Amino acid sequence: MTMPIKTFEDFRDALSGYRLPRVVFTALDLKLFTVIGAKTWTMPDLTGEMQLNERGLTILCRNLAMAGLLVKKGRQYRNSRLAATLLNANDPSYRGEYLSLLAGQWEDWARLTESVRTGKPVDHHRPEDPDYRRRFTWAMHHRTLETAPQIAAQIPLKGAKTLLDLGGGPGTYALAFLAKNPRLRATVCDRPAALEVAKEIAATHKAGARLSYLPLDLLIDAIPGTYDIIWYSNVLHIYSPEENRSVFERIKTSLNPGGRLIVQDAFLHDREGLFPEEATLFALTMLLATESGNTYSVRDTTAWLKEAGFESIKLRRTKKGMEDWEGGLLEARVAMTGAKPIVP
Ligand SMILES: C[S@@+](CC[C@H](N)C(=O)[O-])C[C@H]1O[C@@H](n2cnc3c(N)ncnc32)[C@H](O)[C@@H]1O
Repeated sequence: MTMPIKTFEDFRDALSGYRLPRVVFTALDLKLFTVIGAKTWTMPDLTGEMQLNERGLTILCRNLAMAGLLVKKGRQYRNSRLAATLLNANDPSYRGEYLSLLAGQWEDWARLTESVRTGKPVDHHRPEDPDYRRRFTWAMHHRTLETAPQIAAQIPLKGAKTLLDLGGGPGTYALAFLAKNPRLRATVCDRPAALEVAKEIAATHKAGARLSYLPLDLLIDAIPGTYDIIWYSNVLHIYSPEENRSVFERIKTSLNPGGRLIVQDAFLHDREGLFPEEATLFALTMLLATESGNTYSVRDTTAWLKEAGFESIKLRRTKKGMEDWEGGLLEARVAMTGAKPIVP
């Protein structure tokens, strides 16, 4: 897609960008990658197996092969490596819950006009609903499985003994920090249903033995104990500026003297708050799914951190291709003295 849109041709190209995602969503709806599995198929055989129309399926598969998700050789098709594993429900590495989350977002995005009119979400899942929370938490794990260790490798935690993964969901980041820092102990704090998933995931990791669980509402409840590091990843965008300011204010006292708060989010990095593109687009996902969420600039977030009494606020750049969001994350410290004493 050509950006910025200047000519009518650019405009036409930009508006046609929905096509390939729709091709992939249809393949997922039809469970095509799962049916293809590890086999190579001719179109008549695949059509027979799936009980679909041959013309429709052939055009779909040709598009998927063009996109690299299928491999076409003459009249035969097979899965690419990615499609045979992460997109195949019979493979242990299947990312099913994340794929479902994306499919749900496609539905929500089709109703964007409604949300823009009302300023209200169209996605009315209750955050506390255990079934929804469980599925969403697995989706978050599927989303950051590869990213979390890459981020943990870029954040030195030398000397830190305790880390709180606040709004940590599946604990994927906490586990990555634990794996990278053998002397660290971590606590993942979230809603009870999210922590059930975190426990299941931690049980499959060696580092999971150093992870504890704190079920609470981070907007309301007091956080027991104090920590050397608070990792606050992908929660900021769920809430309003006022709610975020209040969270910063409250969690400052949960850090040990000299402790660090690290905020990871879809930050806007330019003066006008338009880029990176992904961060601006993600604000719409928050409009569609939350009451007060948005994406925020590094400048505004820094100001909220300062108001809350944090100091030494700096942007930590992350390596391209090894980041959760483009452009880096924010780190802030509390003073060496004056913070709440360590609770044994
Ligand atoms: C988008 S997920 C991010 C998960 C993880 N930190 C990551 O970066 O992948 C946001 C998490 O914050 C949790 N969360 C949001 N608001 C919360 C609240 N008021 N109390 C407890 N947890 C909350 C959600 O349950 C969810 O697990």
